[in-house]
This record gives sequence, structure tokens and C-alpha cells, in this order.
Amino acid sequence: MARDKERPVGVDLVASESRDFSQSRALQPKAHRLIPGGAHTYAKGDDQYPEQAPGFIARGSGCHVWDVDGNEFIEYGMGLRAVTLGHAFEPVIQAAYQQMQLGINFNRPAKIELDLAETFLGIVSGADMVKFAKNGSDVTTAAVKLARAYTGRDLVAICGDQPFFSTDDWFIGSTAMNAGIPRAIIDLTVKFPYNDLPALEALFSRHPGRIACVLLEAEAATPPASGYLQALKTLCEKEGAVLVFDEMITGFRWHLAGAQGFHGVVPHLSTFGKAMANGFAIAALAGKREIMRLGGLDHDEPRVFLLSTTHGAETHALAASLETIRIYREGDVVGFLWKQGERLRSLINRSIAENRLSDFFQLIGRPCNLVFATFDQNRARSQAFRTLFLQELVRRGVIAPSFVVSYSHSEADVDRTAEAVHEALVIYRKALDEGIDKYLEGRPVKPVMRKYNCRTEDA
Ligand SMILES: Cc1ncc(COP(=O)(O)O)c(C=O)c1O
Repeated sequence: MARDKERPVGVDLVASESRDFSQSRALQPKAHRLIPGGAHTYAKGDDQYPEQAPGFIARGSGCHVWDVDGNEFIEYGMGLRAVTLGHAFEPVIQAAYQQMQLGINFNRPAKIELDLAETFLGIVSGADMVKFAKNGSDVTTAAVKLARAYTGRDLVAICGDQPFFSTDDWFIGSTAMNAGIPRAIIDLTVKFPYNDLPALEALFSRHPGRIACVLLEAEAATPPASGYLQALKTLCEKEGAVLVFDEMITGFRWHLAGAQGFHGVVPHLSTFGKAMANGFAIAALAGKREIMRLGGLDHDEPRVFLLSTTHGAETHALAASLETIRIYREGDVVGFLWKQGERLRSLINRSIAENRLSDFFQLIGRPCNLVFATFDQNRARSQAFRTLFLQELVRRGVIAPSFVVSYSHSEADVDRTAEAVHEALVIYRKALDEGIDKYLEGRPVKPVMRKYNCRTEDA
């Protein structure tokens, strides 16, 4: 089915002093009373958005969402980058629904588990085997466990310049938000900087024979230096460590097969999730048979408990993934994400130049995964200016914690967003010149991974 390019866009882009958030405001205290953090994902929390922003979403269609007060917005980075086709995308919903009618979970595997495994391995062709799960965190943790079992080593080397790999202790212990994680676990994770091979070589030398795996996003905000990824793989093989690419964001976005497909470097293990099923819960650990087989039944080595959960292969999520992959192939979704992101980038860059903001507001990353960085008048990274920018976009009908586009972002959506951004950047310029206090309503947003909620050293 073709994307609905003609769907009218009804978002009111006139700056609205009167946008009503009263239903959201009424629900927020209750949410915080019932749910720690007021939401089930920290990245969706109140501390991530300006005070003048919707608190709860009622529904979505394509790249548009409506909050509980009936306000309509164009949304970016939907479902924490999981929803790449669009909200309530009909063919995917239908595929999941039809599968649900046949039952979603049995005592023995469903045949669709095999169907998706075969399709997935046809895409991620450097891998021999795959195992599905529900969350990205579970599959990166499984990669770590498998690498430790395979090498008999205990340390995990992660890229310290990249923000997130898993909700599990081996990673969260390495962040500022590490309350509840024992020192013994924290000490088993070591960090290396991106694009710096000598630093990783030095890490291997500091911990001879102890690093089980090297885990990173092959590309995040910064592209790899020429030859870096291949050299990383060669170094891992020389040192006897497993190379793991976390393709949670790059998968089905840089390329159908992720950064490994884009850059042509095949890791020993890789992990996928997010965009695999347009927001339905599914993730994948894929890799070389020699390693993956330790989770299987046909060897005499100690068994690895590899991704075995009650809900791990629910059939409707697998059906959603098969349909998502079909649409990606039929509609060149990846090409569309790059093209539409590029259009948005060039429009926003024009506004940045017109407002003399190139030292203060920057677009970062590939067109298919655009994010932005905000700086204050001293050119220091600024959460207050991020908040002001988000506030001014919300006022103009855009929710954009990033500018990550989906297959549902039409040219009209992108053009309207660019208008909203332009107006928001005019305010940004004024705030730089006249002082932010005159423009920012309420407290600034804060990074998710901070030690304390309110202490200023963490803000
Ligand atoms: C790069 C990366 N890896 C792993 C994860 C964890 O995935 P999940 O939230 O599905 O557990 C995320 C989530 O944001 C991520 O961005």
C-alpha cells in the first residue's frame, strides 16, 4: 500500500498563547503518585519536556498525534525511534491483527518464528543465526552474556561516547544513574572513545586477556573515520574479543541491514530492535553460528541461557515485523527517510544561517537520524536553550526532541515543521541577545542519566 501523501495537514502553526493543556495538567500529579517518574520510560518523562507541553498523548496517525486536550502536533522520533512507518500504520496493524486471531502464544514454537528468522537473515546477511526478544536491552545483554561465555572472560568494553545500550546493570552501572548496582558489577564494564583505535589498543593492554567483547553503535552522531570499523574488527580478532554492533537505531534506518550494511563491516554479533516492526515489541540478537550455537541444543559445552522468555516471540509482533519489512522493500523506506531528512536539514540550516545561530544551534547526524544541539551565549551546551526551543516548537504544533523523520512525514509536514523551526529560532536569537529568562517559561529540562533529580551539579 502506498503512503498517503495527500493526507491534509491540519496543524495550527500560528504561535498559540492559548494552547490548552488543562487535561494534561490535571493528570500529571496522579501519574507521579501512581508511577515512579510519571511514565514507564524515562525519555518520555516530564523532566524531558518544557512546562508548556502536552503531558499525555491520546492517539496518533501517521506523523501526527493528538494530546488528551485535543491539541494536534507533528511528531518526530516517534516511539523513541521505533515507529518508522507512522502511527497506526494500517497494513502493519492488519498483519498483526490477522495473526492475533490465530493465537499469539503456544506451548511449542509457531511457524512464523522460522519465517521471520529466515527473512531477517536474508537481510542481515553477515549473520548465520538469530534469536528474537521483546526489548533492545535484552538482546544487548544477551550479546554480552554470550560473548563472556564464548571467550571465558569477564570484562565488557563499551563505547563511552554513546548514550545508551541496555537497562541492565552491566550498562547502567557505567552511568551517573547507578544507584542499586554493586561495585563488583560496575567494575566489569570499561569504556573506550569512539574513532580512537589507539585508545582501544591501550584498553586491551591494560586488561590483558580479560575483555570479552567490544560493544558500540557502529555510527551514532559522528561517522566512523575511514577504515575505523574494519580496524576495530581486526583488533578484536587479534585480541580474541567479540565485536558487537548495537544496531538498535541504525537498523532499518541507515540501511535495511543497519550500519553493517551501510559500511560493509560485519561484526561477530549484532543487536536490532526499535524499527523492526513499526513500534511492535520485537528485538533481535544475530551473529555467527560459532558463537550463537552456545545458546542451542547441539553442543557439549556449558549451556548459555540465551533469551528465553514467556513473551519472546509473540506471533503478532513477528507478523508486524514481516509486514514492516515487506513495506520497507516495496517502498524504499530507507531511501525516503534519507531524502526527507535531507529536505528538513537544508530548510533548517537556512534558518540557522538567517538567524546567525551557527555557533548556538546545530543539526547533527545523518539525514535519516537528525538530532540537534543547543548552546548558550557562551557557546556552552545548554539545557535551558533546548527547553526554550522545544517550548517554541510545541507552541507552533511540533513535538521534536529530535528531527528523526518517518515514512509518514510528507513534504507538507516537513515544510510546516521548517516554518515552525524558523519562528522558534527567531525567538532563540532574541533570547541570546536579551536574556533567556524573558522567554523561557518554567524550569529547564534535564538529562535522563543524572545522579540526582534536583541537585544543581547535575542539571
Ligand atoms: C542504541 C540503543 N541500544 C539499546 C537500547 C535499548 O533498547 P530498549 O529500550 O528496546 O530496551 C536503546 C534504547 O533507546 C538504544 O538507543
